[in-house]
Amino acid sequence: MESTNNNRGFSSNLGAILAATGGAIGLGNIWRFPYTVGVNGGGAFIIMYIIFVFLLGVPILMSEIVIGRRSQQNVMGAFKVLAPKHKAWLGVGVLSIVAALVIYAFYSVVAGWTLNYIVLSGSGQLSGKSPAEISQMFADFTHGSFWPLIYQFIFLGLTASIIILGVQKGIEKYTKILMPILLVLMIMMCIRSLTLDGARQGIDFLFKPDFSKINGNSVLDALGQALFSLSIGMGAVCTYGSYIRKQDNLFTTSLWIAGADTFIAILAGVAIFPAVFAFGLSPAAGPSLVYEVLPNVFNSMPGGMAFAVGFFMLLSIAALTSTISLLEVLVLWAVEELHWSRRKSAIILSLAVFTIGVFCTLSFGPLSHVTIFGLTIFDLCDKLTATYMMPIDALLFTLFIGWYLPKVDVYDELSNSGQLKARYFKVYYFIVRYIAPLALLNILIAGIIS
Ligand code: PHE
Repeated sequence: MESTNNNRGFSSNLGAILAATGGAIGLGNIWRFPYTVGVNGGGAFIIMYIIFVFLLGVPILMSEIVIGRRSQQNVMGAFKVLAPKHKAWLGVGVLSIVAALVIYAFYSVVAGWTLNYIVLSGSGQLSGKSPAEISQMFADFTHGSFWPLIYQFIFLGLTASIIILGVQKGIEKYTKILMPILLVLMIMMCIRSLTLDGARQGIDFLFKPDFSKINGNSVLDALGQALFSLSIGMGAVCTYGSYIRKQDNLFTTSLWIAGADTFIAILAGVAIFPAVFAFGLSPAAGPSLVYEVLPNVFNSMPGGMAFAVGFFMLLSIAALTSTISLLEVLVLWAVEELHWSRRKSAIILSLAVFTIGVFCTLSFGPLSHVTIFGLTIFDLCDKLTATYMMPIDALLFTLFIGWYLPKVDVYDELSNSGQLKARYFKVYYFIVRYIAPLALLNILIAGIIS
């Protein structure tokens, strides 16, 4: 049993942790987390976020991993194996596949932008520009069609080529190389930012909580950000879960993933906010924070352009380890369910993603007038997945573990058939049965009403 498992999946616990952490750490940490913190007023939001990650995120993460590892299957096959008599559960697999496809389509747009910004900063085109000119460059680039599509295509190709190499020789090997580089680049960015005159204010903003800034919306933002950042609710965790070795401890593995993901998000805050404050810019700029605001920061720092290149490389590496996990959900499904080869699956599915992705990219430019329910195509994909598909999918995953799969099976998987003590089990099971479904239902309803 163990040796077949080893051949199918990751070769070590470290490999599993790094790959899964790489999937979790992405644009969500470095692009979305800082601006969400900025918009929600700083420190108090971060405390709430951390509570959500560990109280709800970790149990849901563990549940999705249990489904993957117990079944040793792709996200669709998992429900065939674990619920053979109740075909309706296959719906969770279908929902996960669709969510992965749609998320990948719009995520690859922003991932492509990072490549453009490596080129822009590396060739000195951002140097010496005024804030108005930098905003104009961002607008000109994103409103175009040729270059954004090319960069998106390159990103999809890069991801597919790593996936084609396989789980151990592709995903595991490359995440093992990329994650340490990401950490080193991140620490360098933090040191630079903290040593700027006036960095103090940014640190206060991040770490001095002001609870008067918390309202109902920020609670939901924190919970939604926790789900997105941990990649919960679209099958990526379940897929990687199926690669985790039978002898590994799922509780500690999940804690490592959640801990590393949160640590990097906070480091991103430390890299960004002191610099934003030191140069008198607004922390609440929103989604354009890293593309429109940070180039001004780099411009006003000695040696700033070298840091700009470093920062955008960091962002693209983080995005790449996430797109790898997104494509793997689709590829493993095609390999196991449609019996396609890995290469064929990666190529055809990437082209399918690009077909939707083209519309997402063009919705910033030539198709910006096309709106559905008042949203552009990009915003629609983002909203559909973040507000509906991921919370619904995460809810179904937790209901499956909390109410459908026999409790002894869940215990058996978490304790590695009794080899581990799993003392946390009672608390875990209570959260998965009652608290997590209620919290997810809450986000779902609030998302629908708003
Ligand atoms: N967690 C990733 C991030 O923080 C985003 C992601 C979501 C990746 C869902 C895969 C699946 O950027």
